[in-house]
Amino acid sequence: MRVVILDHTGALGGAELALVRLLGALDPEIETRTILMSAGPLVDELRSHGHIVDVVPAGSWTGATRHELGGSRLSAAFSALAVLPYSFRLARTLRRMKPDLLCTASLKADLIGVVSARLAGVPLVWHVHDRIADDYLPKPLVGAVRRLARWIPAAVVANSLATAATLPGARNLAVVAPGFAPEQVRHGQREPGDDGHPVVGLIGRISPTKGQMEFVRAAAIVRQAHPGATFRIVGEVAFAEAEYEAAVRAKVEELGLTDAVRFTGRVDTPDAELDAMALCVHASPVPEPFGQVIVEAMIRRVPVIATRAGGATEILEPVTGEEPLGRLVEPGDHEDLARAIIDLLDDPVGAAARAERAWESATVRFPIERSARQVTAVWSSVARAGADRSARRFRWARRR
Ligand code: GLC
Repeated sequence: MRVVILDHTGALGGAELALVRLLGALDPEIETRTILMSAGPLVDELRSHGHIVDVVPAGSWTGATRHELGGSRLSAAFSALAVLPYSFRLARTLRRMKPDLLCTASLKADLIGVVSARLAGVPLVWHVHDRIADDYLPKPLVGAVRRLARWIPAAVVANSLATAATLPGARNLAVVAPGFAPEQVRHGQREPGDDGHPVVGLIGRISPTKGQMEFVRAAAIVRQAHPGATFRIVGEVAFAEAEYEAAVRAKVEELGLTDAVRFTGRVDTPDAELDAMALCVHASPVPEPFGQVIVEAMIRRVPVIATRAGGATEILEPVTGEEPLGRLVEPGDHEDLARAIIDLLDDPVGAAARAERAWESATVRFPIERSARQVTAVWSSVARAGADRSARRFRWARRR
């Protein structure tokens, strides 16, 4: 099977990290080739793992925010016109490469893929990492993407039930959670290490959707109960959200937390950061599509606090009503978050016991081999249907 993957960005966001791990776990019989619409660290990351990557630059609109692209009907119409020449170009490339299918890995790639795959006669699979909902994307875009999902792609893969629920009626919809790579798992127990200076961390792109602001506000409350606690904000700004970072930093100063909160910037492997944490916080105030960081903390046996919404709830409360594998708090409520942090810091033994159960659950539910098998099943059935269709067309043409 030959698959072309299309992503709009060369930056290393969550969806891109998921892609790197997925490609690494596929059966070597599957030939993949990734096309990126802009350069960035993802190129080297993929190449260093032996994957074939082409950068086919698409121009400045790949950096536009979703609101700029689809905030109104007018801007959506302009965006559609702006991307057409690129879609034609990509269609020519696809015709040359003749893959069994095109798999698009980001929202902008999904939209480009609609035109290119159709023109090239290649079946299309959308791999959706975003919730297609008003709280996450501009309204006109939500309507358009949902309609397209019903008719155009041969199959749609969603990264969680929460994401799938935002695509009602999508064609051949499958849920495949992103997976962790074997080397990410911590096998030995953690040292209990209670020295009165616990580290509380939040890992993720700095963005209003990830909740660093709520985290900082909670930190101010936690410091009253645990004056030795420090807080680490791990990650960097991407996708044009520098203003938000500035606001978070200003809040740190305003609350007198400059000694207590550290911004690490981007780190290459979050494992060392996770290992140093007494607990890992996932503070997204809007429902997270999946939330890979939560799984990464679980497989390193780090106690987790997350907001009760979207993929986070699915990961931490696989069976509704049963004791969750981490503490769930109200999204956007920094006081609830602070309470949870204090409770866990007050009871490290209880937190560690829960983290053990979380480790057991995550190591079984989210290995990347499992995701790779599930994605391969979707791809294979789409490729088979595509091959049948071309064979029929060929027979029909010969009969005439
Ligand atoms: C996106 C989503 C995130 C998810 C990741 C992998 O980055 O925002 O929730 O974990 O994709 O699917």
